[in-house]
Amino acid sequence: MTAMDEKPKRKEIAEGFAIKTWWQKGVIYQIYPLSFKDSNGDGLGDISGIIEKLDYLNDGTENSLGVDAIWLSPVNSSPMQDFGYDVSDYNNIDSVFGSMSNFRRLLDESHRRNIKVIMDLVVNHTSDQHPWFLESSSSKNNPKREWYIWKNGVNNKPPNNWQSCFGGPAWEYDSTTKEYYLHSFLKEQPDLNWRNPQVKQAIFDVIRFWLEMGVDGFRLDVVNYYFKDALLRNNPPKRPANLRDLIAGVIYSYAKHHHTYDKDQPEMFDLLKDMRELVDSYGEKLLLGEVGSDRNTEMATRYYGKNNDGLHLSFNFDFLHSPWNANSFKRIIMEWEKGLPSWAWPTYVLSNHDVVRHISRYCRGVNSEACAKVAISMLLTLHGTPVIYYGEEIGMKEGNIPKRLLKDPTGKRFWPLFQGRDGCRTPMQWDNSANAGFSNISPWLPVNRGYKTNNVKFQHDEPDSLLNTYRKLIWFRKKSPALTSGSLEFVNTNNGKVLGYKRITDNDFMTILLNFSEKEEAIQFSEEQKLSICLSLNSRRSGLIKSRILNMEPYEAIIAV
Ligand code: GLC
Repeated sequence: MTAMDEKPKRKEIAEGFAIKTWWQKGVIYQIYPLSFKDSNGDGLGDISGIIEKLDYLNDGTENSLGVDAIWLSPVNSSPMQDFGYDVSDYNNIDSVFGSMSNFRRLLDESHRRNIKVIMDLVVNHTSDQHPWFLESSSSKNNPKREWYIWKNGVNNKPPNNWQSCFGGPAWEYDSTTKEYYLHSFLKEQPDLNWRNPQVKQAIFDVIRFWLEMGVDGFRLDVVNYYFKDALLRNNPPKRPANLRDLIAGVIYSYAKHHHTYDKDQPEMFDLLKDMRELVDSYGEKLLLGEVGSDRNTEMATRYYGKNNDGLHLSFNFDFLHSPWNANSFKRIIMEWEKGLPSWAWPTYVLSNHDVVRHISRYCRGVNSEACAKVAISMLLTLHGTPVIYYGEEIGMKEGNIPKRLLKDPTGKRFWPLFQGRDGCRTPMQWDNSANAGFSNISPWLPVNRGYKTNNVKFQHDEPDSLLNTYRKLIWFRKKSPALTSGSLEFVNTNNGKVLGYKRITDNDFMTILLNFSEKEEAIQFSEEQKLSICLSLNSRRSGLIKSRILNMEPYEAIIAV
């Protein structure tokens, strides 16, 4: 075996791959606007707060994080039943976040700093307070009736066995018109009927509206849910494969079925083609999709389209469910690299607003910061666009929120055994003042304990802090053609605890070695390596390594040429 065996079969390895776009080269930073920075003292984050912090994100110097784009979780008008993922006016900004002119200013100020702005487009469903739904539910023959999915019940029961993603039946009975409407999420989030051409036209107008204003792209919320089976057939039951499945089915009704008919329908691909054509007609814009599925890699791959005519980027969520284990990450990367068509560009993510923060998932031991440094060294050196989640750069942990203070409907209404998603949405920890410098009053969710030392200001002054590690890696990545655009080949380390790979372009390459273990690990290459260290984390290693054997320090990360 050679040092570079286990090659993923990707055409561009041989061909070289010309990278042109910002969304391939850049780093995307997700902001959960309610929790980033409160500028007007109401305890809720807002757009002016984000503007205040743009220099922190990228002021063009290595003192800032250096991210290339921000993705804002929804800022459109919303009754906030699902904190913005229930939109009541697509062409407006919710007053909680500010005004349209604040948003325009955010665009200008971001663009001035070369930061792109990606909006969240939530169009599988609207809010039940959206005027379209108010009309649709007002009578059976209202012209907007067919904008949503209405159906008669069967023997006083819902029309079929579909379940909401949050638990319980996906149908809600409307006593005014005596029919049920479909909601894949909350009952306050009725699903739009994408089979109706008027819906398509209205949403495409929304897309145009924001692109005309200068927005750089959209993150498409639950993009694989838009279409449902035309005959609304029952989903087949899922036979539990193991005890875990059995328990899941008992406590979470959505897990009881295969989702054959309530998502991932073939009609979606034609729609995506049209959407892609529209977005591409505005230049280098981005469609980044959330494809929620048990078979994430396979499904996410499909949504790139057959001929580069689907999403530009489709999230791979497998890291969100992976144990902290080098082999597991290697398997996921390999599967993704093999599964994607040669023209498709991968994207990776460790945390977001729906899951437990990764430092709390992967790094429970004492040296959680060292472990988080390995995680981000991987994310920022993989082949694909990294998406980072606000606060991970300072190692914000999952908040532990008392039941009475929970806000997220999943924790409050549906999943009594879990706290829901509030723990990963706590206010950003800027400094050690009251409310962590997020707000001058008590914020909408409690600030994490530990913010006195775990905050931006504190870490700014510590050369080896996690924040400075993120900065170092992001700026280093920017200057390296291999890291931003090279293909990936695994390096056999002969040690299951150490992940090794190379990033390669025609005239540049980098070697990355990541020790996932809290212990020293010896690795052995199949032939002698000459590695000149560019960056080493969790060790003081520098200079040249010329050897077949290397003893890696606990959680050591090496980037070398
Ligand atoms: C997506 C969002 C999640 C939201 C759901 C319904 O999964 O990420 O936060 O609750 O869609 O819109």
